[in-house]
Amino acid sequence: MKIIGVVGARPNFMKMAPICRAIAESQHTMLLCHTGQHYDHNMSKVFFEDLGLPKPDIYLGVGSGSHAAQTAKIMAEFEGIVLEHKPDLVMVVGDVNSTLACSLVCAKLGIAIAHVEAGLRSFDREMPEEINRMVTDILSDLLLTTSEEAEPNLVREGVDAAKIHFVGNVMIDSLQHFLPLAAESTVLDELNLEERGYSLLTLHRPSNVDDPDIFRGILESIGEAGRRLPVLWPVHPRTRKMIETFGIDVESLGLRLVDPMGYLDFMRLMRDARLVLTDSGGIQEETTVLGIPCLTLRENTERPVTITLGTNRLVGTDPEAIREAIRDCFDGEAKPHSVPPLWDGHAAERIVGVLDQMAEALP
Ligand code: UD1
Repeated sequence: MKIIGVVGARPNFMKMAPICRAIAESQHTMLLCHTGQHYDHNMSKVFFEDLGLPKPDIYLGVGSGSHAAQTAKIMAEFEGIVLEHKPDLVMVVGDVNSTLACSLVCAKLGIAIAHVEAGLRSFDREMPEEINRMVTDILSDLLLTTSEEAEPNLVREGVDAAKIHFVGNVMIDSLQHFLPLAAESTVLDELNLEERGYSLLTLHRPSNVDDPDIFRGILESIGEAGRRLPVLWPVHPRTRKMIETFGIDVESLGLRLVDPMGYLDFMRLMRDARLVLTDSGGIQEETTVLGIPCLTLRENTERPVTITLGTNRLVGTDPEAIREAIRDCFDGEAKPHSVPPLWDGHAAERIVGVLDQMAEALP
């Protein structure tokens, strides 16, 4: 089959890399399309280098904008690409605006859509990603899922169970493939950190960083409770803007800011952290596989298996709850944990298996 694979934003790249490798060894061909939703060197290019992703065949260069403007721009550009290349299938990953925009274009043009990481639900429609996930899933022809709870989520919304394939987690394919290389990263020495001698923080959700009171409350509690160990914080561009807008003095809170990290350096930092604090989706999964305690600074998660089986704890954004959870991580018993089913480094191969079946059924 002729496939177009779509990436747009940072969390897409490590999901697409193993799929690109597996498709290169299959009967199928894939053109890689980068929408340009993320465009800074350290939000995009460094990931192509670290992950050995091929240079995109197609670059749309859409950049930032409001949700409507960004989504519309991707749609307008991507429509021409689909009409020109006439793929049998478009493969989208995750839940970013690029995922939604390209799915909508294909649905209207009658092009089959495969959604990798289908069926995750936070049940919180205030999250832009929840809207992107729901719409993409309802439009998709192949729903490739990472965990068992995805199927009932999808069936409840009217998706035909025959379209759903539990293939496992491609993000973990990348983690396993690149851990040996990440182990060689010199980032700890460069930052003068010791193994298990620091906490790692990431924060970028609009619900956490766009409200000055919530944002300050989170940072003050982490700064205070984290005082026992340095807190390293690779800062997302949108978060940096909010720090400047609100005039928050992060250094005085004891937080150590650095620019966003490349994939290999960040894997090394996660692997050797004492504790990870985050509002990201993928990091909840990666820490679960690495066996590192993770405190998720959100009221809900679309990845509940990281809590039931993994190292993740949902802490919310109440400052006292954050302080208590950090204390508990430092002084309490470690949470028992295991790796969820099919997070085994072979999800991309299973995806190719599903594509083979689909190709056989084509006229
Ligand atoms: C996007 C995804 C989110 C994902 C996150 C990972 C959506 C709705 N959100 O959020 O699910 O967790 O990526 O990073 O798709 N910016 C830069 N340089 C860049 C990219 C962005 O400076 O390379 C700044 C711009 O000011 C932009 C802002 O960050 O306006 C937000 O970027 P955007 O792509 O809209 O969403 P993210 O917050 O990055």
